[in-house]
Amino acid sequence: LITPVILCGGSGARLWPLSRKSYPKQFVHLVGEETLFQASARRMSGKSDALHFASPLVMTNSDFRFIVTEQLQAIGIDPGAVLIEPEGRNTAPAILAAALHAMADDPHAILLVAPSDHVVPDTTAFHAAVAAGLDAVAGGDLVTFGIQPTHPETAYGYLELGASPKGTRPVKLSRFVEKPDAARARKMLDSGNFLWNAGIFLFRAADILRAFEAHAPALLDPVRTAVTQARPDLGFLRLAPESWAKADDISIDYAVMERAGNLSVVPFASDWSDLGGWDAVWRESHPDANGVVASGHATAIDCTNTLLRADGEGLEVVGIGLDNIMAVAMNDAVLVADMSRAQDVKRAVEALKQKG
Ligand code: GDD
Ligand code: MG
Repeated sequence: LITPVILCGGSGARLWPLSRKSYPKQFVHLVGEETLFQASARRMSGKSDALHFASPLVMTNSDFRFIVTEQLQAIGIDPGAVLIEPEGRNTAPAILAAALHAMADDPHAILLVAPSDHVVPDTTAFHAAVAAGLDAVAGGDLVTFGIQPTHPETAYGYLELGASPKGTRPVKLSRFVEKPDAARARKMLDSGNFLWNAGIFLFRAADILRAFEAHAPALLDPVRTAVTQARPDLGFLRLAPESWAKADDISIDYAVMERAGNLSVVPFASDWSDLGGWDAVWRESHPDANGVVASGHATAIDCTNTLLRADGEGLEVVGIGLDNIMAVAMNDAVLVADMSRAQDVKRAVEALKQKG
């Protein structure tokens, strides 16, 4: 039995204006029929020959709690628990809290920790990778999932392989490097011995707890107290705010993964995207032969390599003769940008915040 832990505390500033602070990208309709959060929950549900998923444990904050239950209910999935973080302290405290909560029910719990904002179209391949990872979990390893890198991305973690991979069997990792600078990223890409960290983790709750004890002991007291003093609130479980505030703001990648020795990776050859920008959404939305995606009431005339979205109510958007452009129209905000500037969209959010 595997307990999914779904992380959905992030804000997704690079997908403005569709993704908002109050309604971030994991909860909106970006690609496909379901929201990314719903697709994540569904991907980690049910039972097959090799896998059996328990109800998910959702880690989120107060603002999103009703969106979470509403969107799960809409696809017929009961959350095992929804834990509310009084404030965002990043993924390390969230994962530690999930592990402690799960262990209180079952000391042998196995957790599959996943972001809520990724696209993984092939569920069968994903399940096969998770099943393969269980072998390494049985040996006490913390299991990561590795993506074949295509460019020197600096927004990802890099996994150095301790041996050459054979199919989808888990491989020991010799190193985990989180978000390198451009020069190091280039070097790792060129060496051919690294995979990208997909941001999905599989381990026994007891093993990640041991890793926190060894590598991030300062988190234990505040997070454990926040969990044991958590207060039930309308079906949610609200972590104790005073203790939670004392937990360092740090990601699991820096707090544990870069320091732990017992890491393995399962190579994941199927399509994966973290939808880190509108260019990624364009790529995942099946562009036509001219590279055009026109969704909602959007019409493209003589355009190439262009994303046109009409995400507002009753909006018509027309592009003529555009090349390499992304345009996303909402009722109260419109983004028009060069496709190569997808990563700069978070600057729009900052600029607007300053204007107040
Ligand atoms: N509950 C909760 N609380 N969730 C959080 C919090 C928090 O405080 N902070 C972030 N999250 C959620 C985000 O919504 C996202 O789903 C997931 O945790 C990962 O956080 P990101 O902030 O998106 O991490 P990242 O993209 O910079 O880096 C991670 O993912 C990359 C792949 O997408 C790392 O694991 C990298 O190594 C990895 O390559
Ligand atoms: Mg991310």
